[in-house]
Amino acid sequence: RIAGPCGMVLFGVTGDLSRKKIMPAIYDLANRGLLPPGFSLVGFARRDWEDQDFAQIVHDSVRDHARTEFREEVWKQLAEGFRFVPGDFNDDHAFDQLRRTIEELDEVRGTGGNHAFYLAIPPSFFGDVADQLKEHGLAQPKEGSWRRVVVEKPFGHDLESARHLNHILDEVFPSGSIFRIDHYLGKETVQNILAMRFANNLFEPIWNGNYVDHVQITMAEDVGIGGRAGYYDGVGAARDVIQNHLMQLLALVAMEEPVSFDAESLRAEKLKVLSSVVLPDRLDLSTARGQYTAGWAGGQKVLGFCEEDGISKRSKTETYAAVRLNVETRRWAGVPFYLRTGKRLGRRVTEVAVVFKRAPHLPFNATATEELTPNTLVIRVQPDEGMTIRFGAKVPGTAMEIRDVNMDFAYGGSFTESSPEAYERLILDVLLGDPPLFPRHEEVELSWKILDPVLAYWASKGTPDPYGPGTWGPKSADEMLARDGRTWRRP
Ligand code: BG6
Repeated sequence: RIAGPCGMVLFGVTGDLSRKKIMPAIYDLANRGLLPPGFSLVGFARRDWEDQDFAQIVHDSVRDHARTEFREEVWKQLAEGFRFVPGDFNDDHAFDQLRRTIEELDEVRGTGGNHAFYLAIPPSFFGDVADQLKEHGLAQPKEGSWRRVVVEKPFGHDLESARHLNHILDEVFPSGSIFRIDHYLGKETVQNILAMRFANNLFEPIWNGNYVDHVQITMAEDVGIGGRAGYYDGVGAARDVIQNHLMQLLALVAMEEPVSFDAESLRAEKLKVLSSVVLPDRLDLSTARGQYTAGWAGGQKVLGFCEEDGISKRSKTETYAAVRLNVETRRWAGVPFYLRTGKRLGRRVTEVAVVFKRAPHLPFNATATEELTPNTLVIRVQPDEGMTIRFGAKVPGTAMEIRDVNMDFAYGGSFTESSPEAYERLILDVLLGDPPLFPRHEEVELSWKILDPVLAYWASKGTPDPYGPGTWGPKSADEMLARDGRTWRRP
């Protein structure tokens, strides 16, 4: 899979995401030989830069964040295709210059009129940029070539704003040319959920409410909000992570087998399962939210969320969120899906834990199995990518005593191939026009539809519950599971 002649225009080149993820991923793709030799990258921003200044910015970001080694000859060839267009999003002249730049690149780099516009900018600017692209004839491909648009999250603030954004993009770009990034879908281990479920005969027969007690989907981070106050305050953990990454994980775990792995079939199944997700009636009993306080983490004194630079002292933004969702299908009736995420928690870990019901009968005396916990299958998304099955085994010795053991699969131990970074995979898919890993607008809207009542409920309440740095969230989250007779896993 190597991209044909093409280029990319990047809006938001000065942002964190461009520097840490997008630009390094482009270099890594080039280094792996997956980009066409004439690939071009045009930066667009309100900066007084020349092409060389832009090249320097890309160079620094590649030096700091690329995953593959730096090779002068690869860099040189790539950098010859760098251009910079200064201007803001309302500046007609700048978009005229952008059009001329693209035409020039088609001539000198052979990009063939094929260009992807990557909007790594706040969604409030999507409309302006989309209109400008349309008015300057940049959104419509000439015959035999393509134009695509890539949009980053947050895709709206709620269902209504997400619909509005979809409408804006639909006006300008045909639906097949809009690529909504959810970088979790670019992760190997996330795609492996489908491989594991549908390439084997071992798991699917027990993947239902007859055997599964509940599912826990956890995305925990040990870092605080860092320099992202401007984005995060007023957004919070549920909008930042649950609406997109965790809802997509739920969809992959809970969906039925797709007819095939093409985009239509895959998205159709995700859509079906997301349509059957409902919130419990009592949101006071089935959700929890928290905000980290000051304290010590990893041997260092750390600030509380409200003391962080740029955060309002009385912010009610949650940095921890947990919800219980029910999937009302024959397969999952009665099996709660618990989703949780938080900043400044005990450690960085993302995992899906499928917790099975206890064996219906144990033919041992009670002391033999007193340490036995329910069988659990854990898909470790990151770090330490792999899978663990936890089950009971006989403790060596003369007595019959049974204790939990782990059976482990680790990517590092089983494969010599290295995983591409999520952004590499997704950018390559955009350039190839391969859409299965990009959520369709109905999926985005459905996720908001599920979450909106929770957000409205929280907005009507006081402040989030406090939790200390390095802990596993507020007490209210533990109580939420305890009410159901369950406990959160400690990853
Ligand atoms: C982003 C969120 O989508 O995912 C961030 O906006 C979060 O708040 C990040 O830190 C985590 O990504 P990853 O790939 O490190 O799990």
